[in-house]
Amino acid sequence: MSTSDVTDNTGTGAPVPPQTPLVGPADAARYDSRFSAQASATTSSAMRDLMAITEKADIISLAGGLPDTETFPRAAYEEIVSEIGTDFLAPSLQYGPTDGMGELREMIAGIMADEGARSRVDDIMITTGGQQAIDLSIRTFVDRGDSVLAEGPTYPGAVPCLTAYGADVTHVPMDDDGMRIDLLEDAYARLAREGRPPKILYTIPNFQNPAGVTMSLERRRQLVEFAHSVGLLIIEDNPYGMIRFEGEALPTLYELDDGAGWVVYLSTFSKILAPGIRVGWVAAPPQVLRKMNLGKQAADLCSSTFTQRFVTEYLKRNDYRVHVARVNDLYRARRDTMLAALDAHFPASATWTRPRGGLFLWATLPEFIDTKALQAKALERQVAFVPGEAAFLDGRGGNCMRLNYSGVPEPVITEGISRLGEVVTEFCALHEALNPGRL
Ligand SMILES: Cc1ncc(COP(=O)(O)O)c(C=O)c1O
Repeated sequence: MSTSDVTDNTGTGAPVPPQTPLVGPADAARYDSRFSAQASATTSSAMRDLMAITEKADIISLAGGLPDTETFPRAAYEEIVSEIGTDFLAPSLQYGPTDGMGELREMIAGIMADEGARSRVDDIMITTGGQQAIDLSIRTFVDRGDSVLAEGPTYPGAVPCLTAYGADVTHVPMDDDGMRIDLLEDAYARLAREGRPPKILYTIPNFQNPAGVTMSLERRRQLVEFAHSVGLLIIEDNPYGMIRFEGEALPTLYELDDGAGWVVYLSTFSKILAPGIRVGWVAAPPQVLRKMNLGKQAADLCSSTFTQRFVTEYLKRNDYRVHVARVNDLYRARRDTMLAALDAHFPASATWTRPRGGLFLWATLPEFIDTKALQAKALERQVAFVPGEAAFLDGRGGNCMRLNYSGVPEPVITEGISRLGEVVTEFCALHEALNPGRL
């Protein structure tokens, strides 16, 4: 390497070391034999791999779960950042308590109350995004081989956590009213008979990621009643509860549990304010929270004090509900555009959900279509989605896809769905040509 390859981008004037890796592929065995069972078992979330692809090229991405950055209230955010610089700089750059800033935890209790989930401030711990709340919940309860229940499909980002900790996941099917509680009861009974009753159920009752469906009130009641009757701990993940376009908010499972302590509640500011701040939270009984606190100490000591202050100051000065209502208007229109585009461009043999909130819908194509193969073809036409398999731990979902409508403007949604529709139609035509009359 010549010295001209060595550029100084540190701003310090210090020479930058050569960029070629010092340890090559031949040395892989050195590490492979040393990786922990957990590191070896951990798989990447297909979704994150896809995001890496879609960030690079000029691609219409219906794959992400990104809020539109245009929705950020720029002036309000700028003002807060500058005020933190003048008024709170030292404490905002210092370590903070593991369970989070007291003032923000009080505000979160208020936000939960707005969502019909009354909690005590002492039962709340701030986490580094909702993702850490999932990781801490699973690591707190799951030993390798333990039975866990989750909707099928489930949140693709939870899949690597579940595999890392060795959860033996049984998926419970959903319909338009969310998780089928009758099938949940069947699955529980079967696993109990086999001597491995599930320890926890991971569920996203509101505008589920990826299916876009919402659990009905009746099913919520049935679920909590069932959990009480058999002693099943529910991990309720609720990042999308406020991203509602229509209908009345339904009570959370946490609320229906009525303090009995069978529900651990997770949420995040990622969809309400911005994901880059990485502020989420857990509400759980004290015994559970103590264990999660120890897990968090090991993971990162505390969440960013800077962004906790950012959220606190934002909430002090602004009514977050006004912002959320504006965001919901935008996403509602985008959902409608995607539904109209699907009606126009997808073949009659495809079906899809009609979300009343959240960021995603779930399309099911004819059985013979493998959406991973479809994805490769779609990428050639510069459009991306999440293949359904990413949302299952048992290899199912091969003919399904998750489509996001929040991240791109309406004309781009229409163009993306039109291109996808062409690819799906081609797959159907090829199948028909190879198997006449069997579509
Ligand atoms: C169901 C669900 N839980 C948790 C998360 C993670 O939230 P965060 O971005 O705050 O880590 C997401 C993000 O998309 C999600 O969809």
